[in-house]
Amino acid sequence: MAATADHLKALLTAHAEGDDDLFYSVALQVAAKSARQGHSKLAVEIRELIDSARAQKIPRTGPIPVVQPRGELASLLTAGYSDVRLDDMTLAEDVRASLDKVIHEQRQRARLEQFGFTPVHRILLSGPPGTGKSMTAAALAKELSLPLFTIRLDGLISRFMGETASKLRLIFEAAAETRAVYLFDEFDALGAERTAGNDVGEARRILNSFLLFLDEAPSESLVIAATNHRHLLDRALFRRFDLVVRYQPPSPDQAIEVLQRRLTGMNTAAVRWADLTGKVDQLSHAELVKAAESAAKRAILGGDDMIDERLLIDALDERHALRHA
Ligand SMILES: Nc1ncnc2c1ncn2[C@@H]1O[C@H](COP(=O)(O)OP(=O)(O)OP(=O)(O)O)[C@@H](O)[C@H]1O
Ligand SMILES: [Mg+2]
Repeated sequence: MAATADHLKALLTAHAEGDDDLFYSVALQVAAKSARQGHSKLAVEIRELIDSARAQKIPRTGPIPVVQPRGELASLLTAGYSDVRLDDMTLAEDVRASLDKVIHEQRQRARLEQFGFTPVHRILLSGPPGTGKSMTAAALAKELSLPLFTIRLDGLISRFMGETASKLRLIFEAAAETRAVYLFDEFDALGAERTAGNDVGEARRILNSFLLFLDEAPSESLVIAATNHRHLLDRALFRRFDLVVRYQPPSPDQAIEVLQRRLTGMNTAAVRWADLTGKVDQLSHAELVKAAESAAKRAILGGDDMIDERLLIDALDERHALRHA
């Protein structure tokens, strides 16, 4: 019998309190115990049952029930839920293909595990600001119907200094218990080259603990690290991740697509998009979204849902000006 009396009691309590998350997490512990005892078929069956129960419980289009981190964890990470999907994003083909692979492997986890393989679950996102790294973590969470927990590493380190490693341990323990996407944002705070800065020893120790935790990170949860200073990262770090995804500034065509997507619902029939390609150079996805929003608001407050080229060009020029301010 894989489930102990304690497991059964915990399952009943979770059920009585309507705490789905606790319920599934105990069930996962039972699966893990079965696997350790050599009942791998049973372990796979339990995981599959949990997956299908979750899929039924969480309507694809509805809100994801809120899981709030408790106790000390609550001060280390922020829980977030988003409705953004990968299809809402403008992504380079290779980036999209990598992200689709993550989703596919996570969804087919049980099948992979049956043969002793684990799905991609340690991911490094690297690229310039405003290209969609944080948004990607939110979209992956949404696609997999998982909560998103964000950890700002720079904040963590400056707040806890010498205790940072023990805080990291707490977070990775949570990742083993609560299936979710854990986004370590501002990851370069950890990965700074050994030669940089003065408190190198401390940064190095924290980084080493992170890597140890990462090695043992359970494949149920996704651990995502995001950085926009790739050159600052220690090379040895890259191979510790299952997947490294590189984000680039948008091409002119992608830039136009970002504008068009943000203006869905507005009347853009009069816009000659080809004329805008010269105006989007150097702007990030995030800046383009802001420009589109600004043009749309101006149109709406001017009493119209009609966007013309002039409005868009002005908004793009403003963004360029801000850049050089
Ligand atoms: N690829 C994209 N497709 C569509 N919109 C995007 C994309 N990238 C960014 N955006 C828009 O810009 C906003 C900010 O992007 P996000 O926070 O994901 O950037 P980031 O890469 O994490 O930047 P940073 O390095 O500064 O943290 C998003 O909420 C979204 O509105
Ligand atoms: Mg970000």
